[in-house]
Amino acid sequence: MKPIDTPRIDAILSRMSLAQKVGQMTQPERQFIGPDDVRDWHIGSVLSGGGSWPGGNRPEDWVDMHDAYWEASTQADGEHLGIPLLYGVDAIHGNNNVLGATIFPHNIGLGAANDPDLIRRIAEATAREILACGVEWTFAPTLAVARDIRWGRTYESYAQTPERVAAYAGPFVEGLQERGDGDTGVIACAKHWVGDGGTTGGIDQGETTLSEEELRRVHIMPYLPAIDAGVLTVMASYNSWNGVRCHGHRKLLTDILKDELGFEGFVVSDWNGIDQLDISYERAVEISVNAGVDMFMVPEEWRRFIRSTMELVESGRIPMARIDDAVRRILRVKEAYGLFERPRPAERPLSAAASFGSARHREVAREAVRKSLVLLKNRNALPLKSDWKILVAGHAADSRGHLCGGFTVNWQGSHGNDVVEGGTSIWEAVVDRAPDAVLSADGSVEGDFDVALVVVGEDPYAEGLGDIRPHGRVELGSSLPNPGSQVTLAPYANTLEHRINRPEDLATIERIRARGIPVVTVFVSGRPLITEAELEASDAFVAAWLPGSEGAGVTDVLFGDVNFRGKLTFEWPRSADPDASPMFELGYGLRY
Ligand code: BGC
Repeated sequence: MKPIDTPRIDAILSRMSLAQKVGQMTQPERQFIGPDDVRDWHIGSVLSGGGSWPGGNRPEDWVDMHDAYWEASTQADGEHLGIPLLYGVDAIHGNNNVLGATIFPHNIGLGAANDPDLIRRIAEATAREILACGVEWTFAPTLAVARDIRWGRTYESYAQTPERVAAYAGPFVEGLQERGDGDTGVIACAKHWVGDGGTTGGIDQGETTLSEEELRRVHIMPYLPAIDAGVLTVMASYNSWNGVRCHGHRKLLTDILKDELGFEGFVVSDWNGIDQLDISYERAVEISVNAGVDMFMVPEEWRRFIRSTMELVESGRIPMARIDDAVRRILRVKEAYGLFERPRPAERPLSAAASFGSARHREVAREAVRKSLVLLKNRNALPLKSDWKILVAGHAADSRGHLCGGFTVNWQGSHGNDVVEGGTSIWEAVVDRAPDAVLSADGSVEGDFDVALVVVGEDPYAEGLGDIRPHGRVELGSSLPNPGSQVTLAPYANTLEHRINRPEDLATIERIRARGIPVVTVFVSGRPLITEAELEASDAFVAAWLPGSEGAGVTDVLFGDVNFRGKLTFEWPRSADPDASPMFELGYGLRY
């Protein structure tokens, strides 16, 4: 990390008008702002929400887009200071918004791999694929400790235990930010501060009811190594803690995060997160700025945010000292990252670089897949042999979209292979090495087979739309994220029992088994689910999580090139009764 040039920041700050300061604190979404407005409103940052991309969604399109914003932001004249803009994206399992990116396993699979060195290499490769798009900032890592697998964001969590999340926080932040000189690193963002994984019933954006001692022990703990590693930004969480929304929680944002833990970067709010603080928008802005949010993700109504904040400062409800502190923090991050010395995106060494989606990066992803698979059962059905006649069935068998899950090009993910360019589905990987294999999309069986590989599990989802709730619809209220994306308000399912959510998966397994063919089930999911019936009906059962674009990592292990080594970082449930003992304990995972 470069030493921070405080005199320069002092000098800039002393020349800034209130409008320039508040503009620096404002982060609109790309669909709602063009370069001229970035210049005229002195905007500090722009983001892409999930599923929001420029042009044909190639790295060059991203570089062009950011180049135009950059040029506007750096125009210095009598009215503009020319402070370069930061562009932020959700690169949470690779630079996953972009066509052709290497898609790594979602965090739940990486947790099972238990390999901090691998995490560092994934973060480094991800940083390069972000830099290939001219972008400098990713909203990752997620340091949530998911305590209830009904939460739709469980797959963004490495583990249900804080120690395992903490073990990855440092390496991931270091891998992303690397030298911090902007040549090879990007700015990381630990999220969501704090208690996002602890809500009652696993309800997304819900209420986390815990003593301070337990909040610190479970949910704050993984942030300590991230701060030690120099994480430059932190995102506030939608959830409340004991009834108070984190976006307005002065004790959490200022007293603990900044003063006690010594976090010197800036806090960014989540997508319209401040809207949930009060029915009055002015009051919501006042609460959140004064509580310690520094930059505001106000995707659409950013002008309203700027107007309100300026009025609140002018009327004395927000002290100028708080504004100065927020802007100083933002400038400090830009300075620490070396943004002031960077050339425009089009001229950066890694922009549009060939390493984007490269074989080298895909090899790291494939290694991650191999290490993340957890073998839950094997009655002599594995490993597979290349000269066997293999039936490949199940709705996720030939679907890279299913392997990648949510936050992959589209916010909610996709089905099939069209959207995920590069990599291999499991079917493609099987037939590549077992030429007699047959794909049966509908699970029908014609002829004799040595074994069947049934690839089933959950359909892609993201955030609250992945919640499992006994009844009711997802209430995202005014903060409905990413309006450009397809959104249904129904939760993902009503129960953790997979046989009820997807009866056709069990039917496929049973139909094939009834023909006397041994069945190997590869279960693709964002969380453990109740799968007692599917396990019982299968000869072997592999928890594959959401492995990403490199399906060949799955076949590397199924064909026995390497052994299984993944271990559960989430208990695998036997029944929906929370007091029932799990079917498989933490740390479970068989080997050949
Ligand atoms: C999510 C964040 C994400 C942001 C920007 C929100 O809906 O909660 O995790 O970084 O959108 O896309």
